[in-house]
Amino acid sequence: MKLKTQFSFTLCLSFFLVLFPYNTQAQPFACEKNDPNTSKFPFCDTTLSYQDRTKDLFSRLRLQEKVQQLVNTASGIPRLEVPTYQWWSEALHCVSNLNPGTRFNATVPSDTSFPVVIISAASFNEKLWLEMGRVISTEARAMYNVGLVGLTYWSPNVNVFRDPRWGCGQETPGEDPMVVSKYAVNYIRGLQEIGSMGDKLKVSSYCKHYIAYDVDNWKSVDRFRFDAKVTKQDLKDMYQPPFKRCVVEEHVSSVMCSYNRVNDIPTCADPDLLKGIVRGQCGLDGYIVSDFDLIEVYYNANHYTATPEDAVALALKVGLNMNCGNYLGKYMVNVVNLKKVEEFVVAQDVIYKYIVLMRFGFFDENPKQLLFGNLVHPIYAQMITRSWPSILPSRE
Ligand SMILES: *[C@@H]1O[C@H](CO)[C@@H](O)[C@H](O)[C@H]1NC(C)=O
Ligand SMILES: *[C@@H]1O[C@H](CO)[C@@H](O)[C@H](O)[C@H]1NC(C)=O
Repeated sequence: MKLKTQFSFTLCLSFFLVLFPYNTQAQPFACEKNDPNTSKFPFCDTTLSYQDRTKDLFSRLRLQEKVQQLVNTASGIPRLEVPTYQWWSEALHCVSNLNPGTRFNATVPSDTSFPVVIISAASFNEKLWLEMGRVISTEARAMYNVGLVGLTYWSPNVNVFRDPRWGCGQETPGEDPMVVSKYAVNYIRGLQEIGSMGDKLKVSSYCKHYIAYDVDNWKSVDRFRFDAKVTKQDLKDMYQPPFKRCVVEEHVSSVMCSYNRVNDIPTCADPDLLKGIVRGQCGLDGYIVSDFDLIEVYYNANHYTATPEDAVALALKVGLNMNCGNYLGKYMVNVVNLKKVEEFVVAQDVIYKYIVLMRFGFFDENPKQLLFGNLVHPIYAQMITRSWPSILPSRE
């Protein structure tokens, strides 16, 4: 069961493991309280608003430094003592190490792995989904305290599982938009929520893959070239609701756009979907990220733009804020120099993202001094094994 799950999960996330070894961080947080070099910076001042702090940070960055914050492996800014940050972590049904942001070692050799999502969804038990999210976020915070993980989790997968030939179906809560939405809402609440702590985040969660994404490879159609033909009504009734509820109800901190096209336009190049619906109608205040190297895909595989620089410029103009992969990092300086995108667009993109880091405390001080700072791992594995039968629905 476990082996099978990991195998198909790896397929879904394709080949990145080889490309992105874990990025070791000597110092996993910024703004050490006792450091006179940084304590004077307004971006370290926890009495100011997140907006003011990120604006201050941004105003100190050079173009190259800004650009390096727009990809998943964000380089550090040594002169400001801001460490590197790996944005890419996954937590579909456990804190997973099948991504560059997380690893286990002898201090934390493993964690609690819940059944694959479609199985948990089949319990139709909202409390269980919420509790799973809480357990996973608690374990993530415990691992964060010892420098093994980041706190931006690119889960859950809330695509409606419409076509059984799709390779990622087991990652989803199934075929019913209502169940998928309820799963999403509860799981995200479990991951992100800190009770009465305002807009602070326990961990950051996101919803993927936006939108109408349910083909990997079938006959001559692969996920890069799949063009989903979707009517306005289907979009509204079937595909949108889970994403809408993620953002509107749970204030999720990120959304990932998908590889496929919808009605001929790549989802990550569609201003109506990104700026219009996700940012505008739903009111996302975090960041929109591309699936792995997707900007390259819509230049190379889809021939959607004439040059790589145009692909990057288009992505940023339609509202994409981060490239998972490094294509954007490679071309962005050129894009700004060619005046295809204004620097203020980059500014806003960096700000959306750094507010998320501020919300979980990356710019506050040593995580061991923060809320959750005294958590040690493993905490939950045993307790969950014992109580699992009692939180499943009773079957009289
Ligand atoms: C403060 O900055 C100076 C000069 O760059 C450096 O030598 C020193 O190590 C820094 N202090 C800390 C605590 O990082
Ligand atoms: C595990 O990794 C963390 C973070 O790098 C490190 O502090 C800890 O010492 C490591 N544990 C062992 C047993 O090597």
